[in-house]
Amino acid sequence: MNQDDQKRSAAVAALDLIKPMLRSDSVIGVGTGSTANHFIDVLAELRGRFDAAVASSEATAKRLRGRGVTVMELTAAPPLLVYVDGADEINAQKAMIKGGGGALTREKIVASAAEKFVCIVDASKVVDVLGRYPLPIEVIPMARSLVARELVKLGGMPELRQGFTTDNGNLILDVHGLEIIDPTILEVHINNIPGVVECGIFSRPGAHTVIVGQPDGSVRTF
Ligand code: 5RP
Repeated sequence: MNQDDQKRSAAVAALDLIKPMLRSDSVIGVGTGSTANHFIDVLAELRGRFDAAVASSEATAKRLRGRGVTVMELTAAPPLLVYVDGADEINAQKAMIKGGGGALTREKIVASAAEKFVCIVDASKVVDVLGRYPLPIEVIPMARSLVARELVKLGGMPELRQGFTTDNGNLILDVHGLEIIDPTILEVHINNIPGVVECGIFSRPGAHTVIVGQPDGSVRTF
């Protein structure tokens, strides 16, 4: 199975996991990216068995609506039954790097509103140590140089994501060269730099359940 097939089988397994929990008033948080897109496609087959979805990006909202799923603003939603999303990297402790699609801030907000985070990935995303994937950080535009200098002090090499503005009107710095031994310490530290809106480490908490699509067609859950 190629990488995209693995993403789809993880998405199908996530739907199988949450299907028995669905009620007519359930609201589901939905992430952003190619794996989350697979989840949207299978979730849409069950519309009518839950109330609505809260989207972590404009792109996700558009795809959900396009498939007939009602999209609810987070401000109007009850606690979410579950949040389902992909990741750029995930370790055995279920801490993640996210934000490859630049939606990390809304993803973290929507994930925080859910009782459970189900992370769906292909096998290439599971790592021993986070950091080979450049760490995305959403930054207020005027603070970009200040934040970049602080990230260099932490041993990283920040690079401005060219031609990209987040759904919140901000910039993304992708930080190369970090070996993230303690994700929680670094997450807290980076989020305390003035001008940082959100950092792409998701460790407080990380995922509750991880579903990995495997090359042989099976899925592994931990
Ligand atoms: C978007 C994300 C995505 O979950 C992450 O980039 C993984 O993307 P994909 O499912 O396309 O591999 O964090 O901001």
